[in-house]
Amino acid sequence: MSTNNRLTTSWGAPVGDNQNSQTAGHRGPTLIQDVHLLEKLAHFNRERVPERVVHAKGAGAHGYFEVTQDLSKYTKAKVFNGVGKRTPLFIRFSTVAGELGSADTVRDPRGFAVKFYTEDGNYDIVGNNTPVFFIRDAIKFPDFIHTQKRDPKTHLKNPTAVWDFWSHSPESLHQVSILMSDRGIPATLRHMHGFGSHTFKWVNEQGEGAWIKYHFKTEQGVKNLDVDLAAQIAGENPDYHTEDLFNAIEAGDFPAWKLYVQIMPLEDANTYRFDPFDVTKVWSQKDYPLMEVGRMVLDRNPENYFAEVEQATFSPGTLVPGVDVSPDKMLQGRLFAYSDAHRYRVGANHNALPINRPKTEVNNYQRDGQMRFDNNGGGSVYYEPNSFGGPTETPENKPAPFAVSGVADSAAYDHNDHYTQAGDLYRLLSEEERTRLVNNIVNAMKPVALEEIKIRQIQHFLKADPEYGARIAQGLGISIELNV
Ligand code: HEM
Repeated sequence: MSTNNRLTTSWGAPVGDNQNSQTAGHRGPTLIQDVHLLEKLAHFNRERVPERVVHAKGAGAHGYFEVTQDLSKYTKAKVFNGVGKRTPLFIRFSTVAGELGSADTVRDPRGFAVKFYTEDGNYDIVGNNTPVFFIRDAIKFPDFIHTQKRDPKTHLKNPTAVWDFWSHSPESLHQVSILMSDRGIPATLRHMHGFGSHTFKWVNEQGEGAWIKYHFKTEQGVKNLDVDLAAQIAGENPDYHTEDLFNAIEAGDFPAWKLYVQIMPLEDANTYRFDPFDVTKVWSQKDYPLMEVGRMVLDRNPENYFAEVEQATFSPGTLVPGVDVSPDKMLQGRLFAYSDAHRYRVGANHNALPINRPKTEVNNYQRDGQMRFDNNGGGSVYYEPNSFGGPTETPENKPAPFAVSGVADSAAYDHNDHYTQAGDLYRLLSEEERTRLVNNIVNAMKPVALEEIKIRQIQHFLKADPEYGARIAQGLGISIELNV
């Protein structure tokens, strides 16, 4: 008999019976000597890994990035050099607050995490579909996320906690306004933009740097879902976005995005009208226009969700020569958080899994650890410095040096205008868009238990734009004047 298609145990031995466990007598109790049964039950018990603490629900796809404009003047990152060059990539889209099985069509930012398998190793851009974020210092992130998750007593979502935190954190106003606008519920994952959000530093071959921000613009056009329809879909087909992405790619309707960057000369960061590293602000495109870099196309679905999507590990610290970080206080915290989460969630050798492994050689002196499933460096030299020709550093790939100054302290950003950009956003909207924005906020704030939280939050909307605040106050039946 051919052994090609025979059922085996996980140690490769043929299985005699996969439908009936061994029993003592045909009608007697089950025997512990049925090791195939024991193995099957035990492995089943271990099928879950911890879900991501945020961004747990996601959908992924493979694709490629093609350079359309050579920006080697600004960066030596090979992925962005040479018109026509293609680099394979993997993307994972996600919602933020919901659990692994939660509904896709909820009001939430969407994660937009791209892993480029470049010639110089992997490069991850781990962004969102919004150009800004709710907070601007990593130290506030665990508290912020607690308010987005379930209440520890009721195990329900808690709007009082959400608005309490936001009303005490006025830097959130810009992102809250985007979230509550039509863009808070994208029609599909294909119909939204993506942003790197933070400021990064590009460095060229001469070691010259510039601050940059990434913008992925959807070629499908931006489309959003009507609130009532979104709620209906959330009940009827909670995996609506996941299904849409999979089906589009399966049908050959490959979604695509153009990648642009804004480029700011390093010295401008000292004189710009606000701190350009503050992730609650956008840079004016009049000051720093979008420059095209290339095109991202998604053309292949994963073969196996767990292996490729659940086990994918993205980190803003997964960088390549030509891209460095900025002093953005959120980005700095993220440089710790992601790899730490990966070691906990997937394991110390998560980087060696096929979806995470670079398509270039990995040569270092790290050895062993749980689930070391490659050859673990074989017999090669396992320490440095050594006399046996082991891999050596390449000083030209050090991050570009930069000057630091000042006094070490727990300091806030100097600039505290949380209102101008949120107000500008409101003023840019059409009358219908403003009405929907105000209605979304009013409906979200109605269940807040304490009047003082509503009043504190309305003050922020009033400061952004008197009409914006007044309409929300009116919708909530609160009579209020701007406190200056
Ligand atoms: C996922 C932490 C801010 C975008 C995660 C995960 C952690 C985390 C621990 C789960 C990682 C994993 O298990 O693989 C933080 C911290 C932040 C922060 C501490 C602030 C200091 C942000 C910001 C953005 C963002 C500002 C976007 C601009 C994402 C995305 C994912 C994610 C897209 C999902 C990645 C994936 O698809 O695997 N974050 N985050 N996060 N975060 Fe953040």
